[in-house]
Amino acid sequence: MTNHIIDGKQIAGKVTEKVKDRVERLKAQGVTPGLAVVLVGNNPASQTYVNNKTKTCEKLGMYSVMIELEETISENALLKHVETLNNDPKIHGILVQLPLPKQIDEDRVIAAISPLKDVDGFHPESVGKMMIGQPTFLSCTPFGIMKLLEYSDVEIAGKHAVIIGRSNIVGKPMGQLLLQKDATVTYCHSKTKDLHTFTKQADILVVATGRAKMIDASYIKEGAVVIDVGINRDENNKLCGDVDFASAQEVASKITPVPGGVGPMTIAMLMENTCLSAENTLT
Ligand code: GUN
Repeated sequence: MTNHIIDGKQIAGKVTEKVKDRVERLKAQGVTPGLAVVLVGNNPASQTYVNNKTKTCEKLGMYSVMIELEETISENALLKHVETLNNDPKIHGILVQLPLPKQIDEDRVIAAISPLKDVDGFHPESVGKMMIGQPTFLSCTPFGIMKLLEYSDVEIAGKHAVIIGRSNIVGKPMGQLLLQKDATVTYCHSKTKDLHTFTKQADILVVATGRAKMIDASYIKEGAVVIDVGINRDENNKLCGDVDFASAQEVASKITPVPGGVGPMTIAMLMENTCLSAENTLT
């Protein structure tokens, strides 16, 4: 049975097709959506993510700039780059790739990005608006997971959603978005005692532990929808998620693979957010 595998690549393709139409309409009105991606240092994983983001921009006819900075850059120098981008009318979205080197306070950098260009949805103003259900940029990974659930006809209202992970980027906003769609939400994390007790109750299980293949079938209720946010390398250096896919797919009613599940959606939503930001300049 393969039709219970949620094909993130295909769904991301549908989302980006719609973005492409919006980009064409914007261009007809004289606006080309522009994304600036700032990469500090030479973390190979970050480089791969950032390259994928700028390549996708090109494919959709959007403008993109990549700003590569030395690992040793000072916080002030980085803040100056952000300020320049805030004031650049060709740029509608600014993404500073995380993590940043230790001499830099990530919170200060995120807070320096104009909320009007915060296509990552990490600025405190964006997070606050998301919490109270006002329109804003939503963090791309949880936003992408909501789209995956929607396109896969997963009912959310009244369901018990269990999230493993409480990061500001994924876990926390994920719970809020599911709550807004009337799920009952439980957050689990590294200090949770007896994780099985919680995960076994999940109708929707979102796994963002950062630990390769940690969640196997023993954690999953028969028929649950399982969303795997992890990107890891296994013992054979093959990409794998935080879920042990081979065993989990036996019990899950729907499940995302790694690669090809959540990952493509994160980029698709970044494109959608950048397009929305450009549209906002016209209204
Ligand atoms: N590092 C890992 N994921 C992300 C993301 O979605 N945005 C940024 N800026 N950095 C990240």
